[in-house]
Amino acid sequence: MRIDIITVLPEMLESPLGCSIVKRACDKGLAEIHVHNLRDYTTNKHRKVDDYPFGGDAGMVIQIEPVDRCISTLKAQRKYDEVIFTAPDGEIFNQRMANSMSMLENIIILCGHYKGIDYRIREHLITREISIGDYVLTGGEMAAAIITDSIIRLLPGAMGDEQSALTDSFQDNLLEAPIYTRPAEYNGWRVPDILLSGHEARIDAWRHEQALERTRRLRPDLLAD
Ligand code: ADE
Repeated sequence: MRIDIITVLPEMLESPLGCSIVKRACDKGLAEIHVHNLRDYTTNKHRKVDDYPFGGDAGMVIQIEPVDRCISTLKAQRKYDEVIFTAPDGEIFNQRMANSMSMLENIIILCGHYKGIDYRIREHLITREISIGDYVLTGGEMAAAIITDSIIRLLPGAMGDEQSALTDSFQDNLLEAPIYTRPAEYNGWRVPDILLSGHEARIDAWRHEQALERTRRLRPDLLAD
């Protein structure tokens, strides 16, 4: 799968997408991430990509021309399944959306900008608008990194143990059961005996019970779904 991210702050994406599972998936050829600096697509000699809003207001607005030029350049090279825009007023991102996006071939993510972008971009060039939560960030770069991370880790072969993506919290609308490692006792705090019992079926049953209990207590909305 290929993800093209368009931003005025490419350096904000370098480190979150340049390490760990995402980097490994790219190194293995499972995914390609291309970050495009919007300023490379302007015809303005000062590389300016924003301007004052019509009607007057504070702050600058990203112009349609460089965005259209960038998206058109990409679309001339391959077909894209989605052109996503990250914004606090988009559809709230969740695991179900990550799952379905991980099956796409090519997507573009246009990062939002603190003041906004010319609304015609949203009307004519964007196919899906996504928010990562009901709070406002300074820009959409971190949202783009989060969406990309959550998609890439689901690609077959991206994680060492394929099972682990399937047992994630949210995959079945249940939070994960508690997990522990050695030592079995620390400061008098003991790991639940059942996990040391070696009895696989009982351990599975315990994990399921714990997942249900934690979901009921912490995220009852998931069970209502
Ligand atoms: N840009 C600013 N805030 C955002 C949010 N909550 N989600 C996605 N993009 C954003």
